[in-house]
Amino acid sequence: MRLRIRPATRLKGTMHVPGDKSLSHRALLFGALADGVSELKGWLPAADCEATLRCVRALGIDVERPAWEHLIVHGGGLKGFRPAPGPLDCGGSGTTMRLLMGMLAGFPFPSTLVGNPQLSRRPMERVARPLRQMGAEVITTEGHAPVYVRGGSLQGIRYELPIASAQVKSAILLAGLYADRPTTVIEPAPSRDHTERLLRAMGVSIQRDGNAVTIEPTERLRPVSLTIPGDPSSAAFLIAAALLVPGSWVQIPGVLLNPTRLGWVDAWQEMGAPIQVIPEGEAGGEPVGRLQATAASRLQAIEITGAMVPRMIDEFPIFAVVATQAEGITRVRDAAELRVKESDRIAAIAMELRRMGARIEEHPDGFTVYGPTPLRGAVVHSHGDHRLAMALTVAGLIADGETLVEDAACIADSFPGFVETIQALGAEIEVEAVYE
Ligand code: S3P
Repeated sequence: MRLRIRPATRLKGTMHVPGDKSLSHRALLFGALADGVSELKGWLPAADCEATLRCVRALGIDVERPAWEHLIVHGGGLKGFRPAPGPLDCGGSGTTMRLLMGMLAGFPFPSTLVGNPQLSRRPMERVARPLRQMGAEVITTEGHAPVYVRGGSLQGIRYELPIASAQVKSAILLAGLYADRPTTVIEPAPSRDHTERLLRAMGVSIQRDGNAVTIEPTERLRPVSLTIPGDPSSAAFLIAAALLVPGSWVQIPGVLLNPTRLGWVDAWQEMGAPIQVIPEGEAGGEPVGRLQATAASRLQAIEITGAMVPRMIDEFPIFAVVATQAEGITRVRDAAELRVKESDRIAAIAMELRRMGARIEEHPDGFTVYGPTPLRGAVVHSHGDHRLAMALTVAGLIADGETLVEDAACIADSFPGFVETIQALGAEIEVEAVYE
């Protein structure tokens, strides 16, 4: 699929974004091991979460689906997984594979986790290593998927994460549910804390002391029913479009407002962007509310380093697009993790934005953008990465002439309905089928 994007004049409206991806994975996975029934509304029916659903069902958990975004999970208890009839197919979803590795470390039977070629390029030893220390047998394929896991009796450990990663942290904490004593994970900087919040809401004892998180083993998880709030990482694309297209005004109600996910809002506000965050309630131990933005009259360059990086780890492609319109030199450092996401996001965004006339330099652990530069329409490629495809679509809205985003079907990995949503705000985008 290819997107043909024409320059936008103004975007206006109130739009919902689909359910948060991180919470959709977690609510389903943890609900599967709860004692009883969890009802999930607003669950994200995107390719990545569908992979989690497939795996959970293959592990013997009964999940009803009265509507596309509505799941009823019949939890089997902490010992409730059964050996799957074949390899567990995680598709392109890193969260599915890494969190399941941690959970399966608590089960004495063997499991094999496989992924598509894109996921099979991503590092898995970072999860395997601590799980082995806890006593599980974990074999990767030269550091990658396919991954073999055979769990057993686990020991609690104290583990210092070499990189800030919520997926690795979560895998260790989940294995910690099955250990003989408390497990502590120390992060170099705080990463998203949804696992901690949701497990706490399900009755698990989890303490944070600075950057150290300690979980106590448990006998049972309480089921949890919730309406999953909108994904702030999806909202970021609509907010960016509102900031960049003159005359715009966009409002998004019902968004997850967890501070470990909103680094991009802080960054853009510091650059001078008129974004408002209006808290409205909570769900599953998470704050929820409305995001609102109008077009920015002037944006100032900024530096992003250190602890700020994990707070906006998925937003760097769209952040780079916004930085092309800021006055001055925007620098991103300490972000080498971007090289092992769905694509090498440093190389990919630099290459594609350069085709549109941006001045952007690559570094081993980040990039530098010299702004402001007018963008021009071009033929650009998603690299099979949903966040690249959406960032380039937003760039196309402010480019001169037409932009073609090739290989855009991957948008459905996290934000089904993205094109329709941005069209409803007033953007002119044509969806073209491509026959190979
Ligand atoms: C996620 C954690 C992040 C993020 C990913 C979702 C999660 O990955 O990039 O999109 O749900 O835990 P890392 O843990 O590898 O940083």
